[in-house]
Amino acid sequence: MYIYLLKAHHIIISLFLLIYVIKTFILLTNKKELLQNFSSKIKIPDIAISFLFLVTGILMIWMKENITTFQILKIIIVLSAIPVAIVGFKKSNKLLAILSLLLIIVSYGLGEINKKRIKKAEVSSDIETNPENPSYNKAIHGAALFDANCAYCHGSDGKVVYGTIDLFASKTDKETMKQIIKEGKNAMPSFKAIMDEVEIDALIEHIELMKK
Ligand code: HEC
Repeated sequence: MYIYLLKAHHIIISLFLLIYVIKTFILLTNKKELLQNFSSKIKIPDIAISFLFLVTGILMIWMKENITTFQILKIIIVLSAIPVAIVGFKKSNKLLAILSLLLIIVSYGLGEINKKRIKKAEVSSDIETNPENPSYNKAIHGAALFDANCAYCHGSDGKVVYGTIDLFASKTDKETMKQIIKEGKNAMPSFKAIMDEVEIDALIEHIELMKK
């Protein structure tokens, strides 16, 4: 579910930005009538897009417990840009319109920079995470890590990602999987900065067991 929201959110952001840029451009060229015309023509889609933009964003925050500081910053900037934009366009104030566009672009940029940055969700303290310890169980460790860090995209059953990859039916070999977990691939984030070898091995163990 999360991954579909993410995809939808990206498409909506592109539309949102496009409308914004067009409006600011018309405002800057002093074509007030054109701006009014354009704004009233796209009023409904504009409201729908802004609404979906916020809803998909809020749903994603709600589904993900581990939000990064970057993401919080991004949200604050986006939320502060909205009133600035409303006032700017209503009063045909170029400075405010540009300011709000800049704020939106900055937060979009933060999102892009932040794409590969991901925060680790720790597993419950009941779970033994030290392989030196006799009570350590790789599969249990892996399952807990998977539930906390992967299931919001892949689903606990591994079936989710865009409906195409069934992780637990994948024919990809262990080494390649390890590589993908470390380096990421397309919408799959890279985990090498936040997971060590022991954790990645445990995740692979979980995936292999779930295949059977
Ligand atoms: C933000 C969503 C997201 C998260 C979180 C995520 N994945 Fe993925 N994962 C994907 C996507 C999307 C793909 C498909 C990448 C592609 O091939 O384009 C994928 C692919 C994979 C693959 C390769 C599957 C194959 O056979 O090609 C593995 C293995 C994998 N993920 C494991 C994990 C593990 C383990 C975690 C948690 C540590 C995790 N993923 C977290 C989105 C995610």
